[in-house]
Amino acid sequence: MQNITTLCLCFLLSCSLLSPAQQTTTQCNGSSSHYQQADQPAPSRSPKPPLMGLSTWNAYRAHINDSIIRAQADAMVAKGLVEAGYKYLNIDDGFFAGRDAAGRMLINSTKFPYGMKALADYLHSKGLKAGMYGDAGPNTCASIWENPPETGGRGAGFYNHEQQDMNLYFKEWGYDYLKVDYCGASQQALKLDEETHYTRIKNAIDATGVDDYVYNVCRWTFPGTWVTRLADSWRISPDINATYGRMVEILDMNTFLAPYMSPGHYNDMDMLEIGNGTTMTYEENKAQMSLWCVLSSPLVLGTDLNRITQQTLDIIKNHEVIAVNQDMTEQGRLISDFRHPLQVWSKKLNGKQSGERAVVLFNRTSAAATITLNFADIDLAPAVNIRDLWAHRDLGEFTGSYTATVPSHGVVMLRISGQNIPPSVYEAEYAYLHNYNHLVNCVVIPNQARAGYHAAASGKAAVSYIGGNKDNYLEFNDIYCKEEGIYPLTISYFCENTRTAILKVNEETVPTAPFHSGNASTVAIQSVYVHLKAGNNRIRIENPAGYAPDIDKISIGKKDGPLPGTPHLEAGNGQLPEGLR
Ligand code: GLA
Repeated sequence: MQNITTLCLCFLLSCSLLSPAQQTTTQCNGSSSHYQQADQPAPSRSPKPPLMGLSTWNAYRAHINDSIIRAQADAMVAKGLVEAGYKYLNIDDGFFAGRDAAGRMLINSTKFPYGMKALADYLHSKGLKAGMYGDAGPNTCASIWENPPETGGRGAGFYNHEQQDMNLYFKEWGYDYLKVDYCGASQQALKLDEETHYTRIKNAIDATGVDDYVYNVCRWTFPGTWVTRLADSWRISPDINATYGRMVEILDMNTFLAPYMSPGHYNDMDMLEIGNGTTMTYEENKAQMSLWCVLSSPLVLGTDLNRITQQTLDIIKNHEVIAVNQDMTEQGRLISDFRHPLQVWSKKLNGKQSGERAVVLFNRTSAAATITLNFADIDLAPAVNIRDLWAHRDLGEFTGSYTATVPSHGVVMLRISGQNIPPSVYEAEYAYLHNYNHLVNCVVIPNQARAGYHAAASGKAAVSYIGGNKDNYLEFNDIYCKEEGIYPLTISYFCENTRTAILKVNEETVPTAPFHSGNASTVAIQSVYVHLKAGNNRIRIENPAGYAPDIDKISIGKKDGPLPGTPHLEAGNGQLPEGLR
């Protein structure tokens, strides 16, 4: 194989974009391969699908006790929720009574007269898994923020008691799940480092010898890519409440976090508010269920099951929608333009190269509207079969596109089967950003690469602030090719000043020319030949010395095909590949 550097024959700067037709042409056919994040080691435990269960917090806040929890457990069984997959009952804040002189965590014996082990045993006897709660700092959230404060949580946080507390929770009491909050840690003058403290707690769980557990990081924002290797799930937002507004805020926060999900590791959009109070409508409740499923969030009910209606049960027990959530192939992506109120979301099912999709059409406007799904936009050939997952009805065969009327604040959710066409265009907003949102002592490290709105970009989103240090890179880590060979790679970018970038294809550097698009809102392209192997390829853009250009997308052309827009090829000191001579 020729050295890759001799194959970069031509650099092209142009302000034209590829046509939509070029964007959807199949050029780099893929074969199925296990999905793996950039620099992510193979998981030591076999991956679990997103957790399904119930948490006490939304319905009860800190007003929990033994009989409430036993009654909820009984209802989970009686109402068929355990059978539907909701197996965890997670006890949230509100059971603590400080610590004794030896540092042993104490439990409020008025609320929990039989202790926490007896309660875990009861949950297990019902076929449930038992979930626990705590804080990485000295105090729990309810001891700081509830009114009146839940004083038992003062001093009951894990800080400096990590091993002692994990032995208690996992070995002595036998719990199966732990959610770790950060109120105590962030309120103190302790200046705790998030990664260090969440890792310390994880290591303490492992040191108990228990290996079948679920670990949830509750830092109320995406805390940095370290979390994707450490935790089974991690909160990405402030607390949810039972309003449509907060639901869509959380949805927007998760829009470009798909690259950080991998099988067994999920972005947690917080608990479901379906049926909790009356502020959310039937359509909004169905929307929450559909969106949480297509985005592969844990499904944690937050409703008092003693008062649950049949309509709520029908929503949360929809097995076809749940099956979408439990499929570990990927986290769904926004296909329509970012910030457009008529949204199309799509998630691949049954493997990265399969022709099956779950699609949610979501209408964020205040009136019913039609939304059209073009099958090419979800990487399918024109002929497909469609099933409606809320109507539980096969809709039949369609060609090219499907249009539905979607109620205000509501969804249509579909399962689509067709022929997969591996993409030739990869949007930068769905690339892995290695330093994304890294928090240290409650502060996000400034100037790290991030995805966001860009009016001139395809999908109305692009990635800015790449570079400045070697770790602040962008990586497309799921570029599949059926055949090894030489392919034209086109980078669509923005930068008003001249910038440089290092392009690495499967760890090998491919020379690029300086980038300059004229101004920050004009898209330019630079095309180079790259060698791609059969299977999965990684394409990285970095610049340790300064900012790289903002990236809109990359496009992979036909094997041995021409560089887009190239009037002629200049061999330089390299050789034209076979077929181009
Ligand atoms: C924080 C968390 C909530 C809940 C409360 C308990 O606000 O984000 O989910 O656990 O603490 O005090």
